[in-house]
This record gives sequence, C-alpha cells and structure tokens, in this order.
Amino acid sequence: MRIPEETVERIRQSSDILEVINDFVSLKKRGSNYIACCPFHNEKTPSFNVNPVRQIYKCFGCGKAGDAVRFVMDIENIGYGEALRYLAKKYGIEIEEQEQTPEDLLRQNERESLLIVLNFAKTFFQETLLTSDEGKSIGLSYFRERGFTNPTIEAFELGYTLDQWDALLQEGQRRGYSRDLLEKAGLILIKEAESGGNRKIFDRFRGRVMFPIHNVSGRVIAFGARILKTDKNQPKYLNSPETTVYHKSQVLYGIFQAKQAIRQEDVCFLTEGYTDVISLHQAGIKNVVASSGTSLTTEQIRLIARFTTNVTILYDGDAAGIKAALRGLDMVLEEGLNLRLLLLPNGEDPDSYVHKVGAEAFKSYIKEHAQDFIDFKAGQWLTEAGDNPLKRAEGISDVCASITKIPDPLKRQTLSQRVAQVFHVSEQSVISEINRLLRKQQDQHKKDSERKQRPTESGKQPQNVSPTVPNEPSLDDINALLDGLSVSSVDFSAPSGITPSQPDTPQHTKAVKTPLTYQEEECIRLLMNYGARELEPGITLCQYVLSELHEIDFQTPPFDLMLTIFREAYSRGDILTAGDFLNQQSDTTTRFGDIDIQQQAIHLTTPRYEISGGWLKHEIFVPSEEEIGILADAAYRNILRIKKMLAEQRMATLQQLLRESANKTPEEADQLLTEFMHFKRIDIEISGLLGTVISG
Ligand code: CTP
Ligand code: MN
Repeated sequence: MRIPEETVERIRQSSDILEVINDFVSLKKRGSNYIACCPFHNEKTPSFNVNPVRQIYKCFGCGKAGDAVRFVMDIENIGYGEALRYLAKKYGIEIEEQEQTPEDLLRQNERESLLIVLNFAKTFFQETLLTSDEGKSIGLSYFRERGFTNPTIEAFELGYTLDQWDALLQEGQRRGYSRDLLEKAGLILIKEAESGGNRKIFDRFRGRVMFPIHNVSGRVIAFGARILKTDKNQPKYLNSPETTVYHKSQVLYGIFQAKQAIRQEDVCFLTEGYTDVISLHQAGIKNVVASSGTSLTTEQIRLIARFTTNVTILYDGDAAGIKAALRGLDMVLEEGLNLRLLLLPNGEDPDSYVHKVGAEAFKSYIKEHAQDFIDFKAGQWLTEAGDNPLKRAEGISDVCASITKIPDPLKRQTLSQRVAQVFHVSEQSVISEINRLLRKQQDQHKKDSERKQRPTESGKQPQNVSPTVPNEPSLDDINALLDGLSVSSVDFSAPSGITPSQPDTPQHTKAVKTPLTYQEEECIRLLMNYGARELEPGITLCQYVLSELHEIDFQTPPFDLMLTIFREAYSRGDILTAGDFLNQQSDTTTRFGDIDIQQQAIHLTTPRYEISGGWLKHEIFVPSEEEIGILADAAYRNILRIKKMLAEQRMATLQQLLRESANKTPEEADQLLTEFMHFKRIDIEISGLLGTVISG
C-alpha cells in the first residue's frame, strides 16, 4: 500500500537524523558532527559520522551512508515503506491508509510480513491475558503472584495463550494471515499426515504466559513462553524457533526497554532470564537485559556496545552461573568493554533477590559486591588453590590469559600490576607471562592465516598497473617525428574510426582502484558538487566536462551510470546537483543492479576528512576548490588525466598488436603505427599541458 507523497514528505521533514540514530547508537559530539562506533561493522574506534546540517550519516570504515530513512532501512533490515512507517510512528505522523488486506501483505517482503503477523500475535496474546476468563484467572493471576504490576505488564507487552489447540490459528486466519505466514513466523506447527491420519495444524504456544521478544526498535520478533503447570514432560520455557526476523544469538531480551537507561547509567546489567529483566525494571533498575536461554554471544556483546562500554554480569551464584560468567568474561573483554561480575547469594537469581531485599538494597549489593574480572577469577582460583603453589600458578596464567584478550595494550599494562598484588607475585613475572601468552597467540594466528592463504595463492589478483608508455624500437622514430610539433587543441577522436572509449584492459574487479577509477570518481565528484558553477563566463563546469567527454564512457560501472544520468539531464537542459541524487528516494529508482546511487552521491559530497594515501598519490585532493580558479584547474586536469590514461591504454593495446605483427601486411602494420603515433602525440601533448615529465 502506498504512502501518499505529502505524507512521505512530512515524515522526511520531521525526521531528525540525530534523534533517529540515537535510538540505536550513542552519538558523541565531535566538532559540528557527531560520531560513534559504526553499527554496521565491527570497530573499536569510531568512524561512523553524522552530519546534522546535511542530515546524513557516513561510515568512513565500511562506507555505509545515507539519510534518516536509509539508516532505518539498513539497521532494521527493512524496506523503504516499512522504514517510513517506523519514522511516522516515532514522530506521531498518521499515515492515512486503509487496513492491510492479505493481498497487500503478499506484496510486501517476507520480513515485513513476519513483523506484522508477529505484532498481531502479540496483541492477541495481550487481549487474551487481559480480557478472557482463562487469561485473567490463570495468566494474570500468575503475573500478580510474581508481583508484576500493570505498568510492567504493559511495558513488556506480556500476554497469555489459551490452553487450546488452535486459538491463534483461528483468529489469524479470520484476519487473513495465511498458514504459511503463521508457520514462517514460528507461531504454528504443521505436522504432515502419517498413514491414514490427517495433517495436523496447531498453535506452537498453548496454555502459557507469553513474553514477547523485541528488537532494538521495539518490534516483536519472537516469543518466550512459560508453562504454568508442573509438567515434567514439557520444558519450562518454550521459545520461538529461528526465523527470518529472529536470530537468537543476535538478540538480547529487554534491549528495547533498557537502551535509554543503559545510555544514561552508562552501564548494562546482564542477566540470564526474562523475569530477571522484568523484575529489576519494575524495581527501577532499567538498564538490564538478558541473554535468555543462550550462552552469551559476541553479537550480543556488540549490541550492548552500541550503548555503553561498561557491562556488569549478574548471574546466579550456583555452579552453572559461575560457569556461564566465566564463559562470557573473555568475550566481553575481547570486545574492548569494561567488565564487572557479581554472583548473587546461592539459590537466588536477580528476580528473586530484588523481590526479597528491595531495589535500594539490591543496588547497594551490586555496588559492594561487583568485582572486576581479576578479583573475580582470582577469587575462584584462590578458594580452590589454597596453599597449592601449582594451582596458584595455574590461576595466574588463567587471569593473564584473560588479560591478553583486551585489545588496548595500555589497559593490559595497568592490569598486570593488579594481578601481581592479588596473587602476591612480582609484576615482572606477570608481565612475562602475559607476553609469553601473547607470543603464543601470535604464532597460532600466523599459522592459521598461513593455512588459510595457501590454497588461494595461485588465484591471487594480479596487481592492476596503469599502462605505461611503451619503449619499443619505433618509439624513437615517432618521437623524432613529433619533435617541434605543436598542437593547439587536444582532439581525441581516433583517426581510423576506433572508439577510444573501448575498454582495452580487462574490467578491473570492484576491489581494485585503478588510477583511472580515481579520475572517473573525481570527475563525478566535481560534477555533483560544482556542476552549475561557471568556470569562465557562460561555461558551466557541467557543460565543459560533458563536452570534453563527448563519446567517452567511463569504465567503472557506478561512475559510468552517473555520468549517463548527468548527460541525460543535461540534454534536457538540467544540471543535476548532489541533492537530485540524494532525494531520488524510492528504493527502485536509486538502485541499478547492485549500484546504489544514493550511497555514491553521499560518498562523493562528503568532505574527505581523511586524506588517504591513494588520493594524495593521484593528486586529486584540492584543499580550497571553492575558488573558481582552482576549481577550473581541477576540472581541466581531471579531464586531461582521463584522456591521457585512455590514450595510454590504447597505446598499450596497439603496441601489443604491433608486436604480434608476424602475419601482418606492411599496410596493416603501417596503419597500427599511424594510430599509435596519433595517441602518442596526444599523450605527449597532455603531459606537457599537465606539466608532468614525460617518462617514456
Ligand atoms: N530458559 C529457556 N528455556 C528453558 C529454561 C530457561 O529459554 N527451558 C531461559 C529463559 O529465558 C529463562 C532463562 O533461561 O528466563 C533462565 O532460566 P531459569 O533461571 O530457569 O528461569 P527464570 O528466568 O528464573 O524463570 P522463573 O523465575 O519463571 O522460573
Ligand atoms: Mn527465577
């Protein structure tokens, strides 16, 4: 279903990129921009940049870029329409569209359909809890017993599912959701018919209280369901299976309800269960999430890292809790986060303990008992080791092993002092143990990567070098011929009907940037930023560039596509600007194959705050190109370089042909030589104009 154009515009106008992104990562002000560690790739130093004036973001690490809508699409992995709906909801903008029919649903992609059907199920379970007799007498009274208040039930959108085979299936089908969709969402089970019997279709969750699992932005992506009867044959908690929208290793229960508090408190409490999160939240400790039912994963830690660098693990004090804490410990350190750990008194989990002692006592218990990982590990080892010196040494080595996981060498160094104190040994012995372990890891790493590299070595990409001016016998003759020759204008049309734009070298792969790629990119950048500027009275940069590049195509797909777009517009009398590329929003018009025009446009219009060696080498960086003289010079040089590189490419090909001259007639060889001379002349002339030394 389409969202009316005016509404789209209103949503765009209302969406502030800082507010939108801040819901997912914590932004820090840096100059006039905001920075954060990129949510799209793993990094420890921030290269994700948000520009509030231009309302765009760009990651200088992974290259992801876009506006607010794009950000929501990428971070939530949803389509354009869903992203607009998300923003509309955030900014309280009503979208005047009719109720979705099943047909509309079909048209949306699977992910969006799943989110919609999961949302329906959540609402259905909530209604069942609050309005049905069974829901009230069994589900609601269970939550009351656990001490959950109405606001808590509301905040976590808790529900109940009747002890019937197909309550959800019936209601879902009545609303037009297909069985297929309900099954893909993990809500129903379809058991194929055994001999003679009927196919059985029934609800996955029956007679349980329902805990919806939300993603970071608050959409329901799965459910946890707790049984209320004691039935040894059934698991206490039943969870949604993995689906297109639910990957349990990437999800933390409670992150949506907790993220604001995590940012404010600058620490995240990590627990094991649904009820731990809910009870602590109700007690006013809202910066809490749970790994619920899986052992902690690196992805979950990175999710936390979007909001804070401090994690406190709050696990049960039993053997299983300790084991889980130790397992999580190294992973948290490895991600560069600061870690504290706390074991609750034996037999208690955070849920039971906060109910027992109350919020204030719970908070002071954390304050007094949370340990850093050194004390925590040492505590475990020292109780076990007693006077046994071997065990103590083993303990020291174990703590040192955890220290080696910390990416920051400065941090590692300060920690070795602490280890020495705790174990009563010299700091030097701790440092040498850490170094020994680091060396061991490095050796292992080297071995691993060697093993990985070997099989691919033969298929290695050849280094893509720019064609150089050939040094063949005929060259001296040509140079002699060219002596004293002066050409006033560079004519790039080939004499023998050969199109100079023909790519003569094999298309380079995406990853390799050739010198020509740089120049093509630079050309599009100039067009996009300064197309309408007049280089001299009456001649715009766009006009100059397009007329110079008449009959020349670019060899790098995105730039060639953009050049074509500029050309088309110019033939209609329009000079496009960056804005035209940025605002062309519907996701079908900005994507051509795998080329994303909007991404390219942002990349090309973002000032290069990092001048990479590549750019400097290609002499492209122009510090103050706002000045017309400098701009004209930049455009002029860019065009000359492109032409020079194409000439060199063509010469390399011709030279190859000349070398293979065994079975050529003298006329054919002559023809090739003439053509070669033509390009050589161009090449020399351009070199002169560029003021570069002729090397060949
Ligand atoms: N869990 C699960 N499946 C199970 C048991 C546990 O997914 N069969 C997950 C749930 O997320 C649960 C967490 O592991 O919340 C911790 O388990 P447990 O301590 O047994 O549950 P509690 O959260 O303490 O639940 P309750 O207090 O309701 O017994
Ligand atoms: Mn419990």
